[in-house]
Amino acid sequence: MKVLVTGGAGFIGSHTLIELIGKGHDVVIVDNLCNSSQESLRRVEKLVGKSLPFYKVDIRDREGLSKVLDEHKCDVCIHFAGLKAVGESVEKPYEYFDNNISGTLVLIDVLRKHGCKNLIFSSSATVYGDPAQIPITEECPKGKCTNPYGETKSMLEDMFIDIQKADPEWNIVLLRYFNPIGAHESGTIGENPNGIPNNLMPYITQVAVGKRKELGVFGNDYDTHDGTGVRDYIHVVDLAKGHVCALEAIKRKCGLAIYNLGTGNGYSVLDVIKAFIKVNGVDVPYSIKSRRPGDIATCYSNPAKAEKELGWKAQFGIEEMCRDSWKFQKNNPNGY
Ligand code: NAD
Ligand code: UFG
Repeated sequence: MKVLVTGGAGFIGSHTLIELIGKGHDVVIVDNLCNSSQESLRRVEKLVGKSLPFYKVDIRDREGLSKVLDEHKCDVCIHFAGLKAVGESVEKPYEYFDNNISGTLVLIDVLRKHGCKNLIFSSSATVYGDPAQIPITEECPKGKCTNPYGETKSMLEDMFIDIQKADPEWNIVLLRYFNPIGAHESGTIGENPNGIPNNLMPYITQVAVGKRKELGVFGNDYDTHDGTGVRDYIHVVDLAKGHVCALEAIKRKCGLAIYNLGTGNGYSVLDVIKAFIKVNGVDVPYSIKSRRPGDIATCYSNPAKAEKELGWKAQFGIEEMCRDSWKFQKNNPNGY
């Protein structure tokens, strides 16, 4: 298939390009580079051994996007482009609604005007709020999001559901990611956050490489096995492969489909720190801090639906995730 990849220069997008090309798909990349660098695409090109069509276009730019689709007849869009920093979204709600919601509306309109009514969307486990059940199945009711970023994911899911209901020619797959970490085994592409990392793994790797003094563990009084927050970490390469499997659902004309992409295993913050130290033989100094507002105690998936219907199952464990995150950080102490 010919796949329009929005946000393809980013963390998950860049890894997905490799898996798509590996399975013989063609890609067209659109990214405004607001949270990424074209260097990631150069490295992807090196890994796949060919040059890739890239357009520095903002998804809110109707004309720019139309030109890309005039030039390339795409069968499907994998839509990664969006802003994703939870804390920043509280400070700048307008920017998050404008970028994520207005941008996606423009994208949908341009796609349908070009006869491309197939889309895979990057949603998030954040739509479950404080989950009503653990492990979380897709039937679990959506919850209250505690920040504008989460609201954009939840609202966009609802919009996609209404759009597909009104026009059943659309095939739309909503993929709810759990916590992606890790990096490509080559150590050449990975997660490259701007400024102080918000997420656990990039913070750990920056402490390990000496860029930050110590990790703050946000709370040790949760109702979990060691008191620290439990999450379903998933290797980004497994996550990327999930998108290739989701293309099969699109081919089968799935209508609207929702899948969790997680491993089904929950690890606490201390479990991750210990695994990282053991696998990589480096120290990660940390201290216990107070809880981070908006955090929940436990969040992990039941990924059985994706296995049954897409034939997808995560292959990598926490050791490989820690090994590959460190490999990228060590090889690229200052990012791209
Ligand atoms: P990322 O920031 O690395 O990638 C997003 C890419 O989109 C960036 O390259 C950025 O430059 C681009 N972009 C943003 N706004 C754009 C716009 N208006 N026009 C064109 N390009 C634009 O983030 P990621 O971790 O790769 O996440 C990809 C998607 O997955 C996002 O939608 C994110 O919300 C979602 N997601 C991520 C996580 C996670 O923990 N990483 C979890 C759940 C969902
Ligand atoms: N944590 C720390 N110290 C840090 C960073 C995180 O202790 O410096 C803890 C958190 O309190 C939490 C766990 O590590 O218990 C994971 O935190 P992350 O910020 O890495 O991930 P979250 O689960 O909070 O959020 C992630 C994405 C969101 C997404 C959400 C649900 O960042 O975009 O998963 O999918 F919405």
